[in-house]
Amino acid sequence: MTVRAAYERDGFVVLEGFMDAGACDALIARAAELVQAFDPSIVSIFSTRDQVRHADDYFLGSGDQIRCFFEEEAFDAAGGLRQPKERSINKIGHALHDLDPVFSQFSRDPRIAALTGTLGIERPLLLQSMYIFKQPFIGGEVVAHQDHTFLWTDPPSATGLWFALEDATIENGCMWARPGGHREPPHRRFHRVAGGVGYEILDPAELPTDAMIPLEAPKGTCIVLDGLLPHRSGPNRSPRSRQAYSLHVIDERAHYRTDNWLQRGPELPLRGF
Ligand code: FE2
Repeated sequence: MTVRAAYERDGFVVLEGFMDAGACDALIARAAELVQAFDPSIVSIFSTRDQVRHADDYFLGSGDQIRCFFEEEAFDAAGGLRQPKERSINKIGHALHDLDPVFSQFSRDPRIAALTGTLGIERPLLLQSMYIFKQPFIGGEVVAHQDHTFLWTDPPSATGLWFALEDATIENGCMWARPGGHREPPHRRFHRVAGGVGYEILDPAELPTDAMIPLEAPKGTCIVLDGLLPHRSGPNRSPRSRQAYSLHVIDERAHYRTDNWLQRGPELPLRGF
């Protein structure tokens, strides 16, 4: 079966050994430098459990910036960090691929460009990038969702390219998804409203998680996710981090909603590979 046929059947495809260890290590090193330069007095927490409450201006303005977001469990009762800064960040987002040369080089690797062609994305635009730490012991869970909820285009075109920079296992919080789940219609739309963001509920049912299977991924694996595929990842209570890089592309021919939470200023237009 071809990669494209497997992807269209399941809504995802796991490509082990897609990126070499050197490319993964370059991103890990660069992310560490970005965190080192980050001023931790800027406190913004990323949590998927209450995304409306945590969506502050720092988050909503990050579509064309490089910004760091804390793990929800990073702080003690007095508001201080319970562990060093570099063990407290949940993720960095969301324009790494356009603003940082190391991330741009990784994101525009000819192997990735060729993969999007293989998948039938004719005019890809690199929309969003996230460096996800899934920190030891406090790495937060990501509740079941469809990426299309957050990156809505008409017709749906958001495609996730998720790279394991370290081995992702059940113990340290690998991805879970249900084969064929991408045939599920969108359940929610996360969008800007007066004064912030909110969810439009399109289907009140919760996304089913019982048939999800773990997608364990050795370092260098690329997992491609259809934007409609429900997926989740568990918390990391293990002593090992599970660092990953996530890149989302959309098709230039699809309409990107102007009230999507993720927006860019005119000085940084979306680009392809
Ligand atoms: Fe996702």
